[in-house]
Amino acid sequence: MFTLRKERPEDGPAIDALLDTSFGPGRFAKTAYRLREGVAPVEALSCVAEEDGALLGTIRYWSVRIGGAASLMLGPIAVLPEHRGRGIAVALMSRTLDEAAALGHRAVVLVGDEPYYARVGFAKIARGTMTMPGPVDYARLLGRDLAPGGLAELRGAIGKAV
Ligand SMILES: CC(C)(COP(=O)(O)OP(=O)(O)OC[C@H]1O[C@@H](n2cnc3c(N)ncnc32)[C@H](O)[C@@H]1OP(=O)(O)O)[C@@H](O)C(=O)NCCC(=O)NCCS
Repeated sequence: MFTLRKERPEDGPAIDALLDTSFGPGRFAKTAYRLREGVAPVEALSCVAEEDGALLGTIRYWSVRIGGAASLMLGPIAVLPEHRGRGIAVALMSRTLDEAAALGHRAVVLVGDEPYYARVGFAKIARGTMTMPGPVDYARLLGRDLAPGGLAELRGAIGKAV
C-alpha cells in the first residue's frame, strides 16, 4: 500500500521526471507556470506518495494573489501512469486540503477538469470573477472553500505572489 509523506529536497529529480512523463516538457508554457516562475512551492503543503521506496505521486501548491488578496493554487498533481486509478491523487488532495485549511488558508483555486476535481469539492468559478495572466479555458478554472465563504471573498486578477 502506498503512503503519503512530506516532499523532501532529494525528491526533486523524481518529481521532475514524473511531471515530464505526465505533462510533457511543454508544461512550462502553460499559463499556470507564469504564476510559479521564480516562486517556490508552499513547502508545508508539498507531498508525495511512495511505495517500496519508489515515488508514485506528487502534489504541490503555489501562493498566488487574487485581486490583491493572498490565496492558494493547487497544482501540479501527477501520478505515475501505471499507478493511476488507485486513489493516490485523491489521497494526496484530501490530506493536503485538510492541512491547508488547518494552516488558515480560506480557499484554493486550480486549473483542471471539473468532473475529476468535483470529487474533492471543487466547482467552476463563475466566469468573469477571476482572470488568469494568459490564455486559459475558463471552464477549467475551479475553486473550493477551505473556510466558509472563503472563495466568495476572492475576485479579480490572479497574479504571482510577491
Ligand atoms: C489526474 C491524475 C493525477 C489522477 O491520479 P489518480 O491517482 O489516478 O487518481 P485517483 O486514483 O485518485 O482517481 C482516479 C479516478 O479519477 C478518474 N479520472 C482521472 N482523470 C480524470 C479526468 N480528467 N476527468 C474525470 N475523471 C478522471 C479516473 O477515471 C478514476 O475514476 P474511478 O475512481 O471511477 O475509477 C493522474 O491521472 C495523472 O497524473 N494525470 C496526468 C497529469 C494530470 O493530468 N494532472 C492533473 C492536471 S489538472
